[in-house]
Amino acid sequence: MNLKTDIANGVFEFPFTQNDYDDLRNIVTNETGIMLPDSKKTMMYTRLVRRLREFKLNDFKSYVEYVEKEQKTGKDTELLYIINAMTTNVTGFFRENHHFEHLASNLDNLINKFAKINIWSSACSSGQEPWSIAMVVGEYLEKHPQHKSKINIMATDIDTNMITHGKKGIYNLPEDEVNNNQHLKKWFTRTSNETTGIIKQYTYEIDNSLRSLVTFKQMNLLKPWDLAQKEFHIVFCRNVIIYFSKDTQRSLFAEFSKKMPANSLLYIGHSESLVGVTDDYKILGSTTYVKLPA
Ligand SMILES: C[S@@+](CC[C@H](N)C(=O)[O-])C[C@H]1O[C@@H](n2cnc3c(N)ncnc32)[C@H](O)[C@@H]1O
Repeated sequence: MNLKTDIANGVFEFPFTQNDYDDLRNIVTNETGIMLPDSKKTMMYTRLVRRLREFKLNDFKSYVEYVEKEQKTGKDTELLYIINAMTTNVTGFFRENHHFEHLASNLDNLINKFAKINIWSSACSSGQEPWSIAMVVGEYLEKHPQHKSKINIMATDIDTNMITHGKKGIYNLPEDEVNNNQHLKKWFTRTSNETTGIIKQYTYEIDNSLRSLVTFKQMNLLKPWDLAQKEFHIVFCRNVIIYFSKDTQRSLFAEFSKKMPANSLLYIGHSESLVGVTDDYKILGSTTYVKLPA
């Protein structure tokens, strides 16, 4: 038996019917907004099959029953496991770099306008996005030390594993990636000898002086927001709404809009758009928006 070929051909070691897939993907959509197309069925199988082995279940139908039973008792351990397993966490430092350049050249404007700036990286994955923001802010504060303690960054994601990783601020990175990026070179310290692979990779740790700028917190964007900040002046909501329906996008941006005063900045992902989602923002450039007055 060739497990990989069998899975690719839709033959699973543990029975996994279309009904089972529909039940599980509905649970994911209801909880997170993430819509899973038919093409993700094999991915779901490979990511969840170890749970069947651990719980000694014979098929996915029994797994669905297990999850539903747990949900009825108000526990969410397995639900969290499924969410963590099914999220797509692709990210990178200075991904879509034009947003960070835009941020760098607008921080001064914003601080003069608002006196204090709250920045939100709202689907921060393993932290590369908020740490990239922190590097830009750190460089700004070096030039404008009088604004220290006026800028903070909130980093949230639904995936608990990602939040744990992000908080650590420790990454395995190719040596070239660090050396070729002035921000990474400045704010990362190499903390280990060479790791594995053909490409030279090392472990790097974020500079301690940036740590006080960023707070990490697990949060589902589609559940009531439990946030200390009353307002956000800069929101990064990038590469997450592509997984949501238009209706979900509309309700999400209605909430963002309530939290963002006029002139706040909003950055979305390269393949995302606010057309038909909200009229509360004006486009300034590619995937870069400013909040309009109410
Ligand atoms: C592809 S990553 C994008 C990371 C980063 N924003 C970037 O552009 O590089 C999408 C992230 O959205 C998170 N996510 C998905 N649904 C979410 C929800 N309902 N609430 C909060 N985060 C969510 C996932 O866990 C994942 O880490």
